Amino acid sequence: MQLKKLLEKKNLSKNDIIRLLSVKNKQEIEMIRKKAYFVMKQHCGEKVYYRGLLEFSNLCANNCYYCGIRKGNKEIMRYSLEKEEITNIAAWCADNGYGSIVLQSGERRDSKFVDFVEDVTKKIKEKTKEKTKEKTKEKTKEKTKSDRLPNGLGVTLSVGEQDYAAYRRFFEAGAHRYLLRIETTNPELFKKTHPKNQTLKNRKKCLRILKKIGYQIGSGVMIGLPGQTIEDLADDIMFFKKYDIDMIGMGPYITHRQTPMKRYGQETKNRKEDVFNLSLMMIAVTRIALKDVNIATTTALQALYPDGREKGLQYGANVIMPLVTPKRVRKEYMLYDGKPCIDEDTDECKLCLLGRIKTIGRSVGFDEWGDPKHFLNRTKK
Ligand code: 5AD
Repeated sequence: MQLKKLLEKKNLSKNDIIRLLSVKNKQEIEMIRKKAYFVMKQHCGEKVYYRGLLEFSNLCANNCYYCGIRKGNKEIMRYSLEKEEITNIAAWCADNGYGSIVLQSGERRDSKFVDFVEDVTKKIKEKTKEKTKEKTKEKTKEKTKSDRLPNGLGVTLSVGEQDYAAYRRFFEAGAHRYLLRIETTNPELFKKTHPKNQTLKNRKKCLRILKKIGYQIGSGVMIGLPGQTIEDLADDIMFFKKYDIDMIGMGPYITHRQTPMKRYGQETKNRKEDVFNLSLMMIAVTRIALKDVNIATTTALQALYPDGREKGLQYGANVIMPLVTPKRVRKEYMLYDGKPCIDEDTDECKLCLLGRIKTIGRSVGFDEWGDPKHFLNRTKK
């Protein structure tokens, strides 16, 4: 089938997806990119939504073989931010029009941690709603930024595999989105990249629980893992579809020198270019296949090329996560080597991203939650 015809198909099969991901010709890549952009515009609009990314702790009980903050890495300083600092940063996000915050950390399941996440979520919601109330009481005509967030700041959690009770408590506390990457849906590859106590089966179970509780669910994979094939990536997209995922965050796998996988996927020039291009194609093809989901353009893209995140937006992504982690701890949350924005502070990131988004002619959905249309569509049914 001609590429043009293939791009007009309503439902893409796994083989169609493989074919699209395999395209190497520049003209054909551009056809796919344009189609992805068109589908995004049609189903989600052209606005870019912000989620302030707060990496509030790098303490981790897991030992994923690829990740720089794995428990086994003894060379980093471990930190956990205090509740007060977290809620202040959340208030900053609300005041600066970010609309939503993502609280991310290393994975822990102890009760102290679960209590902490529950409580800090509650406090963020209270604090960002309270602001709205106060302003309304004052009856000033001037509309402040927080007036436009009647339900407070949107809270997304990304704190790994938990049990039903913990997920439920976080939801009751006010978190309405949850990110849990599946990393790869190939069982062999999952086994090769994780210790025995972490299983693909449990990740899937967690995603099902999160969905049942009522969260907007986010997932994603790493692209370019050693041994990963185009067929694996096509399976990943089919998985997003089957699990009715609302939000996708995917990025290139990049080595970290203090991990067991440091030798695999060395950043040679060719590899870098290939994995970058493949990541953009994954964004585009996922957009074409899934249509109304939110897709994030991830920081890891910018680790490979300075304009990586803008490129992601041009290939069909509509969400970006400006870092709001305090500058003093950013270097302790290095998931991979060369993670960008380590020497900047939150204000610098704000200005820098705005400039980048403007250069590609997109506008930001300030003061909006920017919920995925897919969630609205699937819950309306
Ligand atoms: N390269 C790219 N992404 C990574 N992550 C962790 N380590 C790496 C790495 N070396 C991603 C994982 C995880 C997310 C928080 O960061 O996909 O889910």
